[in-house]
Amino acid sequence: MTRICFVASESLPFIKSGGLADVVGSLPQELLKKGHEVRVFLPMYQKVALKYREQMERKTGFQIHVGTIHTYATIFEYVHQGVTFNFVEHAGYFEREGLYGYPDDGERFSYFSHAVLMSFGFLNYFPDVVHSHDWHTGMIPVLCSQYYGHDERYKRIRHVYTIHNLAYQGNFPGDMLQSCLGLPMALLHDGTLHFNDGISFMKAGILYANKITTVSPSYAQEILTPQYGEKMEDVLRFRRPDLVGIVNGIDVDAWDPQTDETLAEKYSVKKLTGKVKNKLAVQKELGLREAKDVFLVAMVSRLTWQKGVHLIIERMADIMGLDLQLMVLGSGEHHMESQLKYMEEKYRQRMVFYGGYNEELAHRIYAGADLLLMPSLFEPCGISQLIAMRYGTLPLVRETGGLKDTVTPANLETFDGTGFSFAQFNSDDLYHVLRIATFAYYQKPAAFKHLMINAMNRDVSWKKSADEYAKVYEECLK
Ligand code: ADP
Ligand code: GLC
Repeated sequence: MTRICFVASESLPFIKSGGLADVVGSLPQELLKKGHEVRVFLPMYQKVALKYREQMERKTGFQIHVGTIHTYATIFEYVHQGVTFNFVEHAGYFEREGLYGYPDDGERFSYFSHAVLMSFGFLNYFPDVVHSHDWHTGMIPVLCSQYYGHDERYKRIRHVYTIHNLAYQGNFPGDMLQSCLGLPMALLHDGTLHFNDGISFMKAGILYANKITTVSPSYAQEILTPQYGEKMEDVLRFRRPDLVGIVNGIDVDAWDPQTDETLAEKYSVKKLTGKVKNKLAVQKELGLREAKDVFLVAMVSRLTWQKGVHLIIERMADIMGLDLQLMVLGSGEHHMESQLKYMEEKYRQRMVFYGGYNEELAHRIYAGADLLLMPSLFEPCGISQLIAMRYGTLPLVRETGGLKDTVTPANLETFDGTGFSFAQFNSDDLYHVLRIATFAYYQKPAAFKHLMINAMNRDVSWKKSADEYAKVYEECLK
């Protein structure tokens, strides 16, 4: 049994902006089932406080004096399905409308990292391993050794750092090292934490953790190259012996078409007919023409460059020239949202764009669609394609990162595969594969159905990957 402490910036069921929340909300459950003890630390965002604070227990409160930060922290606790969640409350830093994107993000997450580490002492809780996620918590391994390391209880903690997305690095002005983190400026001047004319939280995590993981084996290889390395490839190559790629799973209880209460009709791999009702229902809900035999293509995504949305936008006329309907659920960059809105006007009843974040609608889209588009420029793992497969919706992906590792390309003769894929990041190749998928849907229905069954039978649970994480923890503790 290992005592593992997750520290992250988001987690289901409390708060989510992307796949990180899916991972932090479901991997601890699986580790728990395997006999480990897991605790999760999160910031108490406004949305979390509004919904959960009344049901939480206040555990402790203390003052924090680090650099120029002189303030307090209150730690709350909430047990969800056997996993203990601790929340760091600070009105000034976290009681805000959104999660990130504020000018003082560096200060907010420096504070959060200190608050978590200091709380160990007040809660008398010292884990064997701290597992930090993404740039927000990248400083934790450094702080543990350089700031709290005089205390044996901190010194013996081992660190795992998971990169969910190397593109978001947490790069800030160098003086923050002293003012917000309380660390010596020497760590900047000697080059250790120096990056992009300042300091980098991501680089800190990579350098100081005992083991670094990323969310798929392919991405673990890709980030060692300049194409995907986001200027961090040299640091990553230096840590290569300790870098492991472990593919994400999903919460197969929360995402289960057999029990999903949000669906128009539940269905399973043995009773696929129920999926048609979901198609008709989602067409009705979103204002598409209701037709059970039309090829229904979906996208559920953050609208950013990473996700390849612009490939779809630039090729929309050709795509809509195919015999299909398209529904897009997403939020993100303003220009992408307005272009998609314009397309909706242009292709009324055949193309629809729902701008915003809507968890329940996402369930109904995954259930009603025949195909899910994910033409990502890069994809550390991807959660959407895993959910799609579980719902018998074939993913169409670009062969990159976790998409390459989780989706097996279709063979329409042998009926093998769980989706469709293309290699080069351009709209010609995307359009070409979309034509093949459309052809398969109408002209090769037996093959298409087989692929759906293959997809639904694919193991997208955490079982295997949780074992791999457990192995990583063990190796750290050797
Ligand atoms: P990323 O974390 O890069 O955004 P992932 O595929 O790992 O990509 O995870 C995205 C998660 O967020 C999935 O669970 C997906 O269903 C969900 N999601 C993305 N956009 C929306 C949205 N607009 N509304 C509801 N859920 C969304
Ligand atoms: C990041 C990545 C995504 C991954 C998710 C969870 O948001 O963009 O590919 O699935 O983290 O690990």
